[in-house]
Amino acid sequence: AETLREAAEAQGKFIGSAIADHRLSDATYNGIASTEFNSVTAENVMKWESIQPSRGSFNFAAGDRLVDFAQANDQQVWGHTLVWHSQLPDWVENGGFDAAELTEITDEHITTVMDHYEGDIAYWDVVNEAFNEDGTFRQSVFQQTIGEEYIANAFRTADAADPNAKLCINDYNIEGANAKSNGMYDLVQGLLADGVPIDCVGFQSHLILDSIPGDIQSNLQRFADLGLEVIVTELDIRITMPADSAELDRQADQFEGVVSACLAVDGCAGVTVWGFGDADSWVPDVFEGQGAACLYDESYQPKPAYDGVLAGLGGT
Ligand code: G3I
Repeated sequence: AETLREAAEAQGKFIGSAIADHRLSDATYNGIASTEFNSVTAENVMKWESIQPSRGSFNFAAGDRLVDFAQANDQQVWGHTLVWHSQLPDWVENGGFDAAELTEITDEHITTVMDHYEGDIAYWDVVNEAFNEDGTFRQSVFQQTIGEEYIANAFRTADAADPNAKLCINDYNIEGANAKSNGMYDLVQGLLADGVPIDCVGFQSHLILDSIPGDIQSNLQRFADLGLEVIVTELDIRITMPADSAELDRQADQFEGVVSACLAVDGCAGVTVWGFGDADSWVPDVFEGQGAACLYDESYQPKPAYDGVLAGLGGT
């Protein structure tokens, strides 16, 4: 049978996974990561707290390991993430900076990180999770201190740092048409009208079994119709535990549905899953009593969900 990446390549799309740096030394994990995917995203090690934990000291070692892994396996690297309210070090969040200082700090972070990885990273999540559920802007330290122009500024700075990387804004709960995705739509439309260099929108897609929005394809399409690439960036489908076999079968169908929605949209470049194994998933740590959200079980055996993704990619 073909692999996920072979099926995706045949469609001209990519299939990616978030990669946990501390798991790459495990042979089973490393084997799946290298053979099944043609795109990789750092699950944690390219976030601000990892890369610039104190002002002016940059740690690129773990991110470099992922780039080396990807290059050895002929994979694209997705950069995650430059400007985000979470996993943001205390020196930034509670530094008491004024707008000019925080803008300078943000520009310096974006420029240093993107310069370091220039040529190695195909897409960057420049701004992550800027919205509240009602479509208003999240009151992050960036929004509170600088105002919404922190977003346009981040994209302009990113474009200057690496003009060849594709620059994305990324969020969750925007997969279907709703108040939050409408807020995102209005923002990106305005950015484009203002000539801000934005290339893509990432739809995280942390989804719940039996609650998948029915309009993912049309929602992706309306963003693609603006001339932007769209990408499913962090797909998983969580189940209330324990998961029975009927639920795992429905999960497979629902994974297939999301992947098919991307394939049906010309501007959808690919799908990334947020970790491939249930053993490594963030879900049980955050949502008590939920899990089994990935393509492989706790022992790295493929689940029905794996076949669902393969089928969604037109593979067998
Ligand atoms: O590194 C420390 C380690 O030293 C310590 O022993 C351990 C004890 O808890 O914690 C480790 O840090 C954890 C870190 O992941 C690295 O493993 C944090 O506690 C944990 O909170 C952190 O969780 C990450 C989460 O983002 C934080 O917001 C998840 O792994 C990661 O999957 C998740 O990913 C996010 C995306 O970046 C953005 N979209 C949503 C997605 C899911 O929350």
